[in-house]
Amino acid sequence: MALTTTDPLDAALVKADFPLLARTVHGKPIVYLDSAATSQKPTVVLDAMQHYYETINANVHRGVYAIAEEATNALEAARGTTRRFVNARSDAEIVFTKNATEALNLVVQSWGRTNLSEGDVVVLSHMEHHANIVPWQMLQAEKGIEIRWIPLDPEGRLDLTDLDRLLDGAKVLAVTAMSNVLGTFNPVRRLTDAARTAGAISVIDGCQSVPHSATDVQELGADFLAFSAHKLCGPTGIGVLYGREELLDAMPPFLGGGEMIRDVTLDGFTTNDLPWKFEAGTPPIAEAIGLGAAIDYLSSLGMDRVRAHEKAITTYAFDTLTDRFGDDLRIHGPQNADERGGVLSFAFKDLHPHDISQVLDQHAVCVRAGHHCAKPLMKILGVGATARASVYVYNDTSDIDALADALDATGDFFAF
Ligand SMILES: Cc1ncc(COP(=O)(O)O)c(C=O)c1O
Repeated sequence: MALTTTDPLDAALVKADFPLLARTVHGKPIVYLDSAATSQKPTVVLDAMQHYYETINANVHRGVYAIAEEATNALEAARGTTRRFVNARSDAEIVFTKNATEALNLVVQSWGRTNLSEGDVVVLSHMEHHANIVPWQMLQAEKGIEIRWIPLDPEGRLDLTDLDRLLDGAKVLAVTAMSNVLGTFNPVRRLTDAARTAGAISVIDGCQSVPHSATDVQELGADFLAFSAHKLCGPTGIGVLYGREELLDAMPPFLGGGEMIRDVTLDGFTTNDLPWKFEAGTPPIAEAIGLGAAIDYLSSLGMDRVRAHEKAITTYAFDTLTDRFGDDLRIHGPQNADERGGVLSFAFKDLHPHDISQVLDQHAVCVRAGHHCAKPLMKILGVGATARASVYVYNDTSDIDALADALDATGDFFAF
């Protein structure tokens, strides 16, 4: 990429880095607008993973032969890249998991089961993904903890009017940094400050924010932050849990088996150092290498430019869809691109989201339809499902135009 750091992103150049985006669907060029579910992967990520399998495939932290050491070095280099990407203080604070869901479950099962008992309070919000609800509900069933909920204002922001009261006596505040349905960016620093003042730890779901904006865990003041590689140009099969070292250090292991042990006897075991204490079994080696390559790729674009690009496309989408469809199309969440990321959940006429999605597919436009793993939020919005278009570094205004044209055709198709 021959871009300087101050140029806006050239989405056409970026698109050329993603082989899948060259394909056609139903005879038409694909328009991929489902990056909130998973992003496409650039060639550099695919090459890095293939290079591992072709040249240094060996298990890590065990062999003393050359390729085993190279594989170990590559895995640990990816951890360092991830640490710098979120500005953690040390590699010990970066735990590789299967995905963000497992990272959140790790916090609940390890920190939560150790530190919470009957009546202890965990504060969540109405816009959480199931991955940040169900693990806490499982603990509620086991231990009888109390869950309190931060409500939303009419525009789909967190309503923080009663935050101090909700946090009074709480042990945990667990919230998303950005809603995967409403697009809302939450004021994470304000939330982590309030949690700390109340004596609670903060758990931040960074699944939707980390791929789309610069992240500094120290500036955010987060105790834990979870995210998945597959939403940030990386492979499936690997997620990240950032945790403050003092907290991780005091926590018991989550899963047992190789890699997480220091010693095992017939009488018991002792645990490995951080972060391996939380990485039982053979880790996702190729996936970690792919994650490192994905982060290098995004860093070469510049996360501030990624955010600026998505903000511009989101603004264009709001203007285009409003101009063309007026009251027939309603986008959920804040109406101002400053307050939100490029996730556009919408209602169109009185059509069912699955019908919309199916007709859009005939025009090669890929959007998600459903509850987006946020059923409590769907209920609060008073809908069973939404259609959702979401943008990333490789989308440009032509993709939004294609969405609008396909929506026009959808309206015609169902006009009878
Ligand atoms: C906000 C949010 N949290 C958590 C998750 C779960 O991510 P994963 O399925 O990669 O574990 C998602 C995925 O859609 C998400 O959008």
